[in-house]
Amino acid sequence: MRIDVLTIFPNMFDAVLGESIVKRAKEKRVVEINIIDLRLFSKDKHKKVDDKPFGGGPGMVMNAEPFFEAVNYIRKKTKDRRLKTRTILLTPKGKKFDQALALKLSKYEHMALLCGHYEGIDERVAEGLADDEISIGDFILTGGELPAMVIIDSVVRLLPGALGDENSSKDESFVVGAVSDRPLLEYPHYTRPADYNGMKVPDVLLSGDHEKIKEWRKKEALKVTKKKRPDLLVKTSLTETKGFRK
Ligand SMILES: C[S@@+](CC[C@H](N)C(=O)[O-])C[C@H]1O[C@@H](n2cnc3c(N)ncnc32)[C@H](O)[C@@H]1O
Repeated sequence: MRIDVLTIFPNMFDAVLGESIVKRAKEKRVVEINIIDLRLFSKDKHKKVDDKPFGGGPGMVMNAEPFFEAVNYIRKKTKDRRLKTRTILLTPKGKKFDQALALKLSKYEHMALLCGHYEGIDERVAEGLADDEISIGDFILTGGELPAMVIIDSVVRLLPGALGDENSSKDESFVVGAVSDRPLLEYPHYTRPADYNGMKVPDVLLSGDHEKIKEWRKKEALKVTKKKRPDLLVKTSLTETKGFRK
C-alpha cells in the first residue's frame, strides 16, 4: 500500500512512523508512506496556507488551493500504477472510525490523508476532493495529524506481511476471529507467573486442552462484552462485518 499525508506539520510523524510495526512494515516494503509538506503547494510568497473566514468569526480557515494542487500532484504520481485509491479528509464531521472501516481501507492500494488545522479547511476540499470524511471520535483535536497517525497505524497492521504473526490481527477485539463468530471484545490474556501474589490464572488455561480453552475464551469474550460494551451485542451486524473480510 502507498500512503500520502498532506500536513503543515510533517515532523509530527517522525516518532510514530519510525517505531514498532509501522517502521518494520516500511522496511519490509509492505507500505510506502510519504509525508508531504502542504506549504510546498502554496502560491503565496510567504507560503501561507490559511486566511480569514468569509462571513467573519474567530480563527483562520485553510485555503482550498494547496490541497487541490497537492492532491493533483499525488494523482499524477500514482496514475501510472492505476492504484485502487481513497482520498480521505480528517474532520470531526466525518464518519466515525472503527475496526470495520480500518479493515475496509486496508483493501485499498493507496490512501491520501488530508490534515486540517485552525478552524478547519475550506469546504470546497470536502466537496471536490474527498472520497471519505473520517472522524476518530466525538472530540476536537488541534489538527488532523493525530487522526492520520491513528488511521495509518490501525490500517498498516492489517496489511499482509505487517505483523510477525498474521493471526494476531484475526483474533482481536471488534473482529470476527477464530474464537468469536461476531465482533466482540477480546477474552482476557495471562502470562507467567501462574500465581502472582495469590492472583491465579484460570485453571483451564494451564490444562493444555485446546478445545476447552477455546470454549472458555468464547464465553469470556461474551461476558466481558456484556459487561463493558453491551452496545456491541446489539449494534453489530454479522453480515456487514463479514462482508469487509472478503
Ligand atoms: C480544531 S479542528 C477544527 C474543528 C472545527 N472547527 C469543528 O468544530 O468541527 C482542526 C482540524 O483538526 C482535525 N480534527 C480535529 N478533531 C478531529 C477528529 N475528532 N477527527 C478527525 N480530525 C479531527 C481536522 O482535520 C480539523 O480540520
